[in-house]
Amino acid sequence: MIVVPGGPKGRTLRDVLWRILGLARNDGFGHNAWGHPSAGPRLDSQLCSRYEPYMSELLQTTQSEVPPDVIDLGLGHPGWDLLPLEIMRRAAETRLQQPDASLLQYGLEQGDGYFRRALAAFLTRFYDLPVSMDTLFVSAGASLALDLICTLYTRPGDVVFVEEPSYFLALRIFADHHLQIVAVPTDADGLDLDALEEALATHRPTLLYTVPTHQNPAGFTLPLERRQRLVELAQRHNFLIVADEVYHLLSYAAAPPPPMAAFTNTGAVLSLGSFSKILAPGLRLGWVQAAPAHMKRLYSSGLLDSGGGLNPFTSGLVRVALEEGWQEEHLAQLRKTYHARMDAMHQALEHELGNRVAFSTPEGGYFFWLRLPSHLDGETLQQQAAAHKLGFRAGVHFSGHGGLTNYIRLSFAYYDASTIAEGIARLRQVIDKC
Ligand SMILES: Cc1ncc(COP(=O)(O)O)c(C=O)c1O
Repeated sequence: MIVVPGGPKGRTLRDVLWRILGLARNDGFGHNAWGHPSAGPRLDSQLCSRYEPYMSELLQTTQSEVPPDVIDLGLGHPGWDLLPLEIMRRAAETRLQQPDASLLQYGLEQGDGYFRRALAAFLTRFYDLPVSMDTLFVSAGASLALDLICTLYTRPGDVVFVEEPSYFLALRIFADHHLQIVAVPTDADGLDLDALEEALATHRPTLLYTVPTHQNPAGFTLPLERRQRLVELAQRHNFLIVADEVYHLLSYAAAPPPPMAAFTNTGAVLSLGSFSKILAPGLRLGWVQAAPAHMKRLYSSGLLDSGGGLNPFTSGLVRVALEEGWQEEHLAQLRKTYHARMDAMHQALEHELGNRVAFSTPEGGYFFWLRLPSHLDGETLQQQAAAHKLGFRAGVHFSGHGGLTNYIRLSFAYYDASTIAEGIARLRQVIDKC
């Protein structure tokens, strides 16, 4: 396994504790009346060394831990060097010195008004269109927003249209809600709208889920004319577009077309945004931008009635980062760094695999999407890559119907340029052997 997916997931807590107790017994710790080792004074100091591997498995904090000798280009996470610890420290110091405990109270259902005001001003500037705070609902990341939308707008068995390929973890959320996934073909510019019209002749979708800008995994961006036609189709056929726009602000070349958020006044679009990609995923903070009727539906849900607005504490801190301009500075830094990483991956791919795999260079986001020679299978290649201490995601996971078997997805967000180059060199070695 390349990625060690967290101790308690793989092994139960009981297994790990039992292992530690077993080691302790072998090490001659005393036994209590039940025959179990009883920790003497030596235990504290010895735990740190002898039992450390087992303890760290128990105490794992992050979703994925990659052994230091492995390069996992499958990870769609920001690199450790890009996590804004200093900004969040300053934001916390500033906010927590104020004699206002409101961020510790149950929050307003739609989300902290001051935070939404700061977010609206930020989006107005960076989307280059007026965004009103009334059209923003605060969520605990785009994933939770998607889950909540499924809860509120769908019933088991409803049809959801997705792009082929689509963000694989959104497919998981749709499966949790027992939705029927129908994959709509795409081309180099994203959703193929003629194919969508054909699909609409036989299906009546409740939702259409799209990542319109710098798509995960394929990197494409839907042109403006297609965005407009998509909205017209949604209005005519009465389905809701869920536009996952988490990469919209991560453009490294020309400015992208306006976000789907520009069409929320039609009532046909729910636009999802997230601080995961522009500040830090651990904040679990994002938003839905939508017309007022949808706002009401979102914040009137039982979840919010019971728990209040989502993440008032984090919103209170991120508000400071927005108001002080720290978010803007961080975004500029991210764009610069990701641009350099994207170029490094592009060059390495051209150099090592230029005539063996097909890919187009994205203009933003996190990913390259590679078409392998037709005799190669992405999942088999992934298994073989493990021996070379290399990871990536096999294309089949991004398919709505088990296709895309000769594709793989690589992320350039997590590693610096030289590690990316080494990763691509390893990929060439794996492919050379096939
Ligand atoms: C397209 C897309 N949507 C949503 C997410 C997750 O967003 P969040 O962390 O805000 O839940 C990701 C993360 O990889 C993503 O690529």
